[in-house]
Amino acid sequence: MTWLVTGGAGYIGAHVVTAMCGAGESVVVLDDLSSGDPARIPGVPLVVGSVLDGDLVGRTLRDHDVTGVVHVAAEKRVEESVRHPLRYYRTNVEGLRVLLEQAVGVGVGALVFSSSAAVYGMPDVDVVREDTECRPVNPYGTTKLVGERMIEEVAAATGLRYANLRYFNVAGAAAPELTDRGVWNLVPMVFQRLEQGLPPVVFGGGHPTPDGTCIRDFVHVADVASAHVAASRALVDGRVTALTANIGRGEGVSVREVLDVIREVTGTAGEAWAEPVLAPPRPGDPPRVVASADTIRAVLGWTAEHDVHDMVASAWAGWRAGPLAAR
Ligand SMILES: NC(=O)c1ccc[n+]([C@@H]2O[C@H](COP(=O)([O-])OP(=O)(O)OC[C@H]3O[C@@H](n4cnc5c(N)ncnc54)[C@H](O)[C@@H]3O)[C@@H](O)[C@H]2O)c1
Repeated sequence: MTWLVTGGAGYIGAHVVTAMCGAGESVVVLDDLSSGDPARIPGVPLVVGSVLDGDLVGRTLRDHDVTGVVHVAAEKRVEESVRHPLRYYRTNVEGLRVLLEQAVGVGVGALVFSSSAAVYGMPDVDVVREDTECRPVNPYGTTKLVGERMIEEVAAATGLRYANLRYFNVAGAAAPELTDRGVWNLVPMVFQRLEQGLPPVVFGGGHPTPDGTCIRDFVHVADVASAHVAASRALVDGRVTALTANIGRGEGVSVREVLDVIREVTGTAGEAWAEPVLAPPRPGDPPRVVASADTIRAVLGWTAEHDVHDMVASAWAGWRAGPLAAR
């Protein structure tokens, strides 16, 4: 069978493509290259275009005899989604609707969807389980939740098998050329500051956490990718028909702790100028968001293998290998 990976030239998508190809799967990528780079996936068939283009999606599915889809393509910048909600509804919701319409039309049987911990919003629990109430606090999170519901409802009507995978804080790189080139997440943002000779900025030091900084569940992108291999196989062999699962390590790490690892890895640990500076907390930033990874472990036998040091060291190797577009 052949898998279509939408957004397969992006940061996470390229890791998924690499892992699936490495596991012997046949893959074709559809990506509009708005933030993706074909150099990440040499040798993999690439169709350049948007998931919003129903004719192109349908043609791609038919031409490549696609029987399963991994839908990674999306826009993912939380702050931007607040300013441009309709753009996010268009790409993330309408894009998925078009894809589903075409996929169901040609009889695709399995779908893996890139969802996000953003569906939970500001959870007031120590550990977030899949049955924790979803109350997204920004349009990005809402579009992911609407996407999950759309998939569930289409699956109920058509028999489509699906896995909605809710990624927590993804970091690291399996190889330097696959690295995250955006500076929208903590690790690359701190790299950029240090490279400019500026101290890292911590938003909020008075949260109700042991060191006062926010606690998150960081997960290595190579582990995220291996979860897709496990999910896609389980959908194909029928072990799984409907799954919504967190993709995290089940372990909280504070922003301060991540900064300590970054300063160690980048060799700036002893430098007074690289001491983090405090900025006011960001509105809507929950103090603690940590996954329960019990569901994915029980259903797919998947657990994360890499720790925060692996994430930072591999991301740093990728950063230094540049050139990075967003620098
Ligand atoms: N990075 C994270 O920490 C994180 C956390 C949770 C969920 N996610 C989700 O994972 C997915 C991938 O995120 P990423 O960090 O790799 O982002 P990314 O921007 O690197 O990748 C997105 C890819 O989708 C492509 N794309 C965008 N719009 C498209 C369209 N209309 N048609 C076809 N292709 C399109 C882009 O060119 C890019 O290659 C997204 O769905 C995101 O919401 C990411």
